[in-house]
Amino acid sequence: MKKVGVLVGSLRKESFSKKLAQNVAMLFPEGYELEMVEIGNIPFYNQDFDDEDNLPAEIGEFRNKIAELDAFLLITPEYNRSVPAVLKNALDTASRPMTDNKWSGKPAAIISQSPGGLGGFGANQHLRQTLTCLNVPVLQQPEAYIGNVATLLNENGEITNEGTVEFLTKFVNKFVDLIEKY
Ligand SMILES: Cc1cc2nc3c(=O)[nH]c(=O)nc-3n(C[C@H](O)[C@H](O)[C@H](O)COP(=O)(O)O)c2cc1C
Repeated sequence: MKKVGVLVGSLRKESFSKKLAQNVAMLFPEGYELEMVEIGNIPFYNQDFDDEDNLPAEIGEFRNKIAELDAFLLITPEYNRSVPAVLKNALDTASRPMTDNKWSGKPAAIISQSPGGLGGFGANQHLRQTLTCLNVPVLQQPEAYIGNVATLLNENGEITNEGTVEFLTKFVNKFVDLIEKY
């Protein structure tokens, strides 16, 4: 069984990213277990936590969770053309101590979304930059920029647009191919 952690870059109750995540999680084949990883309770990372061996419990728990997962699906909005702070904080937190980067070598895929037309391109690209630094093999193609997201979901949070479901199914299959290589 492969365990894929889903990290969502929005804490909003009615988040489009969360709704997309729930839809995409259902597209994985048998043999895959998807887990929504909580990132909203992690304190802002402070290097003193590690230097002074004084880790808040939530940080230790989050690092342990990342250590036990095999791959990561990151689904995020764009905040001011970049990655929302809550998601960047999660990435930074499990990247330290430097000798024990918990992300290293584990494959990941990125889906960015926006109610606007650009589909979170800036956040998606900035995430790729950080994941390269963390030694994470990122799914290169297809890239997933989900624009006009509000028009794609019904009142139950289900994706109603057939083309989008088809695209996301292909996306998941390619991600699974990548995971199987590691
Ligand atoms: C602080 C902030 C900055 C934002 N910046 C952008 C942006 O750069 N590009 C964009 O397309 N949408 C931007 N938005 C709009 C978000 O895409 C929109 O609020 C979206 O619904 C957030 O995702 P969520 O539904 O998962 O919470 C911004 C929203 C906030 C709150």
